[in-house]
Amino acid sequence: MSPTRAPYPARGAASYWEPVWQRGSRYRAIDRAETEALGRHLGAGRSRPALDIGCGEGALTAHLAELGYRAVGVDCSPTAVASARVRHPAADIRVFDFDADDAALLPHPAFAVITCRLVYRWAADKSGFLSRVRALLAPGGVFWVVTSVHDPSRGAPRPWVCDAADVELLTTGWSKVHVHELDPSFHCYRLRP
Ligand SMILES: C[S@@+](CC[C@H](N)C(=O)[O-])C[C@H]1O[C@@H](n2cnc3c(N)ncnc32)[C@H](O)[C@@H]1O
Repeated sequence: MSPTRAPYPARGAASYWEPVWQRGSRYRAIDRAETEALGRHLGAGRSRPALDIGCGEGALTAHLAELGYRAVGVDCSPTAVASARVRHPAADIRVFDFDADDAALLPHPAFAVITCRLVYRWAADKSGFLSRVRALLAPGGVFWVVTSVHDPSRGAPRPWVCDAADVELLTTGWSKVHVHELDPSFHCYRLRP
């Protein structure tokens, strides 16, 4: 792994992300192509529970609610959560560290849909992260991952992209894997246990 791909934080997610949000960092907005993919691949919520891990300012959580899911967004950064609550007052957004906090604190024991957008790349322990996701997916559930990926035509991997090993780990061990390419370097993964 090159120095630019060193994983962040030995000290816990919030210690990394809270200063990032306090500095005013922002991330790629969800565009129409992405919301259409979300609707097509996840379908109507029909009041089923959905969990958006690392929700940031809550846009994906709010889209899940619009699709009819009982959506809860969690983020380790209190600043991100405060901003999400202002932007999406009707959304259920909570401070929660997915790596460290007790899943029993979540409002449902299992979720029909679990999403993470621009989060998986940054997980310090990706295997552990994926194990926790699997434990929270309801039977027949869907894990929806949105991530930047390495596009070899653009040279060396940038720090924020998943490389081939990250993608291999992400997509191994599911009964169904579907990749939706929003562009050559920005993919959605629909994963079913
Ligand atoms: C690059 S931002 C993406 C935010 C949002 N999903 C989006 O697409 O705009 C990554 C987010 O994941 C959150 N995050 C990272 N690790 C986390 C963890 N262990 N538990 C909860 N949130 C986490 C960060 O605080 C940050 O808001």
